[in-house]
Amino acid sequence: MKGRVKAAVAGANGYAGITLVNLLARHPGVELRQLSSRSFAGKPYASVFPLLDLEGEFVPEPDADGIDVMFSCLPHNVGAARAGAWVDAGVRVVDMSADFRLKDPAQYPKWYRQDHPAPSLLSKAVFGLPELHERELPGAALVAVPGCYSTAAILALAPAVASGLAGSDIIVDAKSGVSGAGRSPSIGVHFSEANESLGAYAIEGHRHLPEVTQELSALGRDGLQVTFVPHLAPMTRGILATCYFDLKGSLAQLQDAYREFYAGQPFTRVVAQSPTTKLASHSNLCLVNVSAQNQKAVVTAALDNLVKGASGQGVECFNIAFGFDRKTSLEGPIQWP
Ligand SMILES: NC(=O)c1ccc[n+]([C@@H]2O[C@H](COP(=O)([O-])OP(=O)(O)OC[C@H]3O[C@@H](n4cnc5c(N)ncnc54)[C@H](OP(=O)(O)O)[C@@H]3O)[C@@H](O)[C@H]2O)c1
Repeated sequence: MKGRVKAAVAGANGYAGITLVNLLARHPGVELRQLSSRSFAGKPYASVFPLLDLEGEFVPEPDADGIDVMFSCLPHNVGAARAGAWVDAGVRVVDMSADFRLKDPAQYPKWYRQDHPAPSLLSKAVFGLPELHERELPGAALVAVPGCYSTAAILALAPAVASGLAGSDIIVDAKSGVSGAGRSPSIGVHFSEANESLGAYAIEGHRHLPEVTQELSALGRDGLQVTFVPHLAPMTRGILATCYFDLKGSLAQLQDAYREFYAGQPFTRVVAQSPTTKLASHSNLCLVNVSAQNQKAVVTAALDNLVKGASGQGVECFNIAFGFDRKTSLEGPIQWP
């Protein structure tokens, strides 16, 4: 492609959109052409991005005209209804929502309470987890970036499942910071309700569970039983997934399987100590520790829900899809504490 890639961000004033714009603004191969938001329509970009040198005004509706790639940071169902027109217009789409992650259209109404708005696009979508799908990404017309919990759980479990060293019964206990719920206010993420408090939710089944099961089952294991329980933690950002399964082999074999699986991967690192969310904060890293208690493996994974769990991974997929170095605009100084 000649010149820089012309990009638009739909839903640019939400948490995923803001993170994307901050990353794309320093991407040498991208020209940010258009940002959309209904509530900021007509207001200057500086009203949301005072520290970026961006000129222009928010538009109320994303418009694909003159755009090469649409980064969609809209809620599920909302972007899917528009995605068909974007793809038909030759615009490539990187979707942060859940709309194109599940391959089986019958799963969508079960988890999202309505029929899929564009089922014919499901077969075109590449599941945007480069550690598993890097080869399918170059040239992709539609990328479905996985959920934040799903990214942590799949990266924590893929080597164990692929190597056959995990029993079929897997438990994922995951905690997320409140930015995982987005920027729109709701009672559950109200400061006085979420601060100094910790609780489980969606115990009967969270929407990210079918993504996790789909991707782990595709690694060649039928009959996997994943129990996934998310928790809301009183922190702004970050996910910690602690995963338990019966160990079929030794801990040393399991650790070798993880090191081998992630050898050469720039963003998923096998680390010697159980990671904290703060260690991965503001980075595109997923940090994975592999331990055991008796014959029960305990694998912990930490990432930033807005970066590797959303927009950083979106940029990573975009880089591969458009032929840039996978790490472009995703590396920076370690931010700790
Ligand atoms: N937060 C995370 O950690 C995370 C992680 C992975 C994936 N995601 C996914 O990324 C997407 C965005 O999440 P977020 O956390 O950024 O949410 P958010 O902060 O609530 O932002 C939602 C965005 O969508 C726009 N919007 C809301 N309702 C709309 C409608 N009916 N029509 C058009 N635009 C609408 C909002 O702007 P206006 O209301 O001004 O139009 C805003 O720009 C979601 O699909 C989410 O599941 C989020």
